Amino acid sequence: DFHPQSICRDNIILLTVMCLSSARQLTVQMMQNPQILAALQERLDGLNGSPSGYMESLPKVVKRRVNALKNLQVKCAHIEAKFYEEVHELERKYAALYQPLFDKRSDIVKAAYEPTDEECEWKADEEEELTVSKQDEMKEKAKLEEEKKDEEKEDPKGIPEFWLTVFKNVDLLSDMLQEHDEPILKHLQDIKVKFSDPGQPMSFTLEFHFEPNDFFTNTVLTKTYKMRSEPDENDPFSFDGPEIMCCTGCTIDWTKGKNVTLKTIKKKQKHKGRGTVRTVTKTVPNDSFFNFFTPPEVPENGELDEDSEAVLAADFEIGHFIRERIVPRAVLYFTGEAIEDDDDDYDEEGEEADDEVKHLWPQ
Ligand SMILES: *[C@@H]1O[C@H](CO)[C@@H](O)[C@H](O)[C@H]1NC(C)=O
Ligand SMILES: *[C@@H]1O[C@H](CO)[C@@H](O)[C@H](O)[C@H]1NC(C)=O
Repeated sequence: DFHPQSICRDNIILLTVMCLSSARQLTVQMMQNPQILAALQERLDGLNGSPSGYMESLPKVVKRRVNALKNLQVKCAHIEAKFYEEVHELERKYAALYQPLFDKRSDIVKAAYEPTDEECEWKADEEEELTVSKQDEMKEKAKLEEEKKDEEKEDPKGIPEFWLTVFKNVDLLSDMLQEHDEPILKHLQDIKVKFSDPGQPMSFTLEFHFEPNDFFTNTVLTKTYKMRSEPDENDPFSFDGPEIMCCTGCTIDWTKGKNVTLKTIKKKQKHKGRGTVRTVTKTVPNDSFFNFFTPPEVPENGELDEDSEAVLAADFEIGHFIRERIVPRAVLYFTGEAIEDDDDDYDEEGEEADDEVKHLWPQ
């Protein structure tokens, strides 16, 4: 079946991320195996039309016309960029239609709104009830009444730990999660996606809305992803839709002593002359989900060290995933229903990626 969405963005960005990380692996393999290197070089030569190339063998007048075709191709890339701008506009338009539903979701989660009986009816519940035998039904009833009493005692508000549970259920996010992050994420009440305004450079912002808490004074933490949606002048044929170029976080106003992105360590220092030893305390970065809000900066020259590059590649994937999957279908990640589907998606993307490779290296 046809998923225009995934054609427009999903695959493209994920493929970009995948290429970033797999290119390095490939290089390593190639370096280690001269035969692979030679075979690849031959195929690439075939593609470039260099030494053994077909292009070289063409008469000058034909080569000239091929250049004209390439110029047409550049124009196509610019039209494609316009296409993606319109996709972005459509997304903005539809975001406004989804928003009231997401707001209601948030109100139910944070107990600002109690859904009616009618709103709480769900078909699957009835089916389940029908399948239990009479005896089980009695037990179930007793159990439910007990649970009801428990609930009245604890009186849970809304849906406790909704977003924290979502985070724990998604590998991509739970990998970043540290134990000391969990008490903080219990206060997360909503994640919103905001698109850039028309006429502005293309970007989207993830807003993490928190209830008042002991950890920091911010009520909203933000992460903005800037996209490039036009062909690169120097390499127009590589254009394949919008790409995340860089991202910016925000300053978290941690309450004193609550900064989980820092830890203090004690270090022994030896005095050079006297040989005496003293203990000094140093603060060093600590693993935390909240490092998500201080991503590595891309320097002016655009060159990053390997670590930062890897952090950013993972970061872009996470940002994209939150926007594209988590925010639109949060409840299904809370219940776990969306998780199997995602595995399927990844398989599909893997297969597509393989196809892509085959196309790049013609037989
Ligand atoms: C730093 O990380 C460790 C282990 O992940 C954790 O136990 C500790 O609480 C963190 N430090 C602070 C100050 O949050
Ligand atoms: C929290 O820790 C980070 C380093 O991880 C540091 O850059 C920041 O200034 C600290 N914030 C506060 C309020 O202490």
